[in-house]
Amino acid sequence: MDVRQEYLNFFQNKGHEIVQSAPLVPDDDTLLFTNAGMVPFKSIFTGAVPRPTPPIRTSCQTCIRAGGKHNDLDNVGYTARHHTFFEMLGNFSFGEYFKTDAIAYAWEFVTEILKLPKDKLYVTVHEKDDEAFEIWAKHIDKERIYRFGDKDNFWAMGDTGPCGPCSEIFYDQGEEHFNTEEDYMGGDGDRFLEIWNLVFMQFERDKSGNLTPLPKPSIDTGMGLERVTAIKEGVFSNYDSSLFMPLIKEVEKLCGKPYEYISGASYRVISDHIRATTFLLAQGVNFDKEGRGYVLRRILRRAVRHGYLLGIKEPFMYKLVDKVCELMGGHYTYLNEKKQAVKELIKMEEERFFVTIVAGLELFNAELKNTKNIFSGEVAFKLYDTYGFPLDLTSDMLREKNIKVDEATFDKLMNEQKTRAKASWKGSGDKAKESGDFKALLEKFGKNEFIGYENKTSNSKILAILDENFKEINELKAGESGWIMLDKTPFYAQSGGQCSDTGLINLVSLVLDTQKFFELNLSLITAKESYKIGNIVRCDVDDKRAMIARHHSATHLLHSALRAVLGEHISQAGSSVEADKLRFDFSHPKAMTSEELAKVENFVNEAISRGAEAKVEIMDIESAKKSGAIALFGEKYGLEVRVLSFGDVSKELCGGTHVKNIDEIGAFLITKESGVSSGVRRIEAICSQEVVKFSKNLRQELNQINEALKSKDSLVAIKKLKDEIKTLQNELKNASSAKAIELVNMGDVKVVVSEFSGDIKAKIDELKNQNEKLVALFFMTTDDKIQIAAGVKGANVKAGELVKNVASILGGGGGGRDDFATAGGKDISKIDQAIEFGKNFIKEKLS
Ligand code: ALA
Repeated sequence: MDVRQEYLNFFQNKGHEIVQSAPLVPDDDTLLFTNAGMVPFKSIFTGAVPRPTPPIRTSCQTCIRAGGKHNDLDNVGYTARHHTFFEMLGNFSFGEYFKTDAIAYAWEFVTEILKLPKDKLYVTVHEKDDEAFEIWAKHIDKERIYRFGDKDNFWAMGDTGPCGPCSEIFYDQGEEHFNTEEDYMGGDGDRFLEIWNLVFMQFERDKSGNLTPLPKPSIDTGMGLERVTAIKEGVFSNYDSSLFMPLIKEVEKLCGKPYEYISGASYRVISDHIRATTFLLAQGVNFDKEGRGYVLRRILRRAVRHGYLLGIKEPFMYKLVDKVCELMGGHYTYLNEKKQAVKELIKMEEERFFVTIVAGLELFNAELKNTKNIFSGEVAFKLYDTYGFPLDLTSDMLREKNIKVDEATFDKLMNEQKTRAKASWKGSGDKAKESGDFKALLEKFGKNEFIGYENKTSNSKILAILDENFKEINELKAGESGWIMLDKTPFYAQSGGQCSDTGLINLVSLVLDTQKFFELNLSLITAKESYKIGNIVRCDVDDKRAMIARHHSATHLLHSALRAVLGEHISQAGSSVEADKLRFDFSHPKAMTSEELAKVENFVNEAISRGAEAKVEIMDIESAKKSGAIALFGEKYGLEVRVLSFGDVSKELCGGTHVKNIDEIGAFLITKESGVSSGVRRIEAICSQEVVKFSKNLRQELNQINEALKSKDSLVAIKKLKDEIKTLQNELKNASSAKAIELVNMGDVKVVVSEFSGDIKAKIDELKNQNEKLVALFFMTTDDKIQIAAGVKGANVKAGELVKNVASILGGGGGGRDDFATAGGKDISKIDQAIEFGKNFIKEKLS
């Protein structure tokens, strides 16, 4: 039975519209990840945005519960039903139906579609919710309805946001299979399995914990796909179901040992974590030192350590990606598109961790020997800081020993480190956002409209003025700087990578910057005259706008080119668009070759010369995605989005300002390709007049080089110079060895004492062949050492003795036969002294 499809069909038949799963990174700063099916609908529940039609929806939402309010990471692998990543089936009513229908639908689906036996079902309601109790009592025996308090039967999305009492449906898997002390209704055991949670959304909770009633009582339900699938397949753990078993089989192959339930936690951890890892990476989250990327890193490293426990001593997680794509790529098609890139990113992260895992485990084991109940916070921090062991990995390793980490000390060290890091970082934006009361302005005036797509000038009214510390004032006097809020503004506020517009107010006062503070566009100006609230002022956007537009449109072309040349796995990881340059970061596992760069450049330039008009369409996000527009996972999009296309070359969601036709870009040139972090590359490029400027500079540099080389063709001149250098080097070498073999007569013996470079042994042999009686002593310096060699033929000098004495002057030693010996020395500064000594030594022996 395809539970996912049955569910969506069932609710579609009841009038619900099916919506696609939203990204795992929610459009919501209060959450780390989408942790429930209702998350994408939060603003509809709270009334911040209007109700859609029809006001009832159904979805199968991918969720992550690792980090944040709903965090199951620690339990994964050790229970039959917890996951970091899972799929939640849900039906939602925004002020339409409430408890009666929600309960009736749920009961019908469970008993008639899933056909779960009624004598195995139980439900819970909030202890104060008599209404829900009575409604349930129409479907199920009263003895099967349990009442619990807030802990079990009050659901909230996060610390703030929509919430309400809830009612859960449980399935009894049977005493014969589960009989621990915790296996009772409401206990922690696995026997009574919660399969569906019906939340009666009634309140919004604010930061201080106050509950305000929602505009309309609503419904949010969540049913775990993995749990229901396991029940339908008659297995007692989600991991034994067809959703996980194929992954566990792959792990068996990798470690060569069969899986069994009791000791199989590591297999389960790995098969859970590879799903979370694959989905997050495919959706553009990357491994990082903080935030969501750090949760991803924790998940992967935890899995790697469990692989290590199974005896897998090299990267292996990446090998499981194929299976995940095979199992889930049919429904989540983007998995297949990103497969290759996901594998490479995982492999690189695994390799990084494998470098330190052995040393880290040694430190861990050494400390464990000294540990009774509490594991040292210092060592846990060192494991984190030096060996890359996230805290929950260390806790996980201690879990089976029932030992806890001294988290207070860990946190203290962590905070100290953060403070140190912060001290070297000056950021003002966030502080500004905290200090200004933008909400009040927003409530008073609403959003101020950006009219800059069509206009570069306007006559606008000043609605509010803020000083540089974002305090509201009534007047900005000549000479002062401050922020103004215009009723409609042609100035683009920095966002989506595009820099802000600059310009003039009343043709005299400079607009230095324009920023978005929540939904407000505010411009920073230095006043040349006085401005008061209510004044109508003339606004002019700087001509720089045209160049910004060219660079922005070129960025879109570049994005398409990269996909065409490198593959569909390319996803944007950041960008910056200015009047004189652009920067584009994207996921790609290795440096681009010069051939690839040339192809990308050609692709863009060809598109520019063909030309294509910009077309802007406003549509809802789902239609935009269906139309094939590139959207960034995790990017914040409103309900309505702007889709910008240039012919068939590019189609992207974008709020920026662009050229009317890409032929305006003129020319495009890549100036640099580099790595930003693992798996992320950066291209820097320029277009239009900037290309001309760049070429002029190059030409000037080339002229200067030619001048310096006194040549018209620097390449030929450089080659000539190189040849000359080589000739000179050879001459120099010959000259020094020629000097070295200057022999002097001492009686009938030829004597040479000299520095030498080359093959000393060969030289001595050569001299021996040429002379009847010979004493040769050579010194050769290499870097910071001196090599000494002596050769003697037909003379009363012992070579071994000679080098030994000489070497002692140079702070070294050595020796050898009478006719040939070598030694070494260290003190290069004494080489002249050593030569002098050698000469005298030989002279004395021969006299
Ligand atoms: N939002 C509810 C939950 O996640 C349905 O349990």
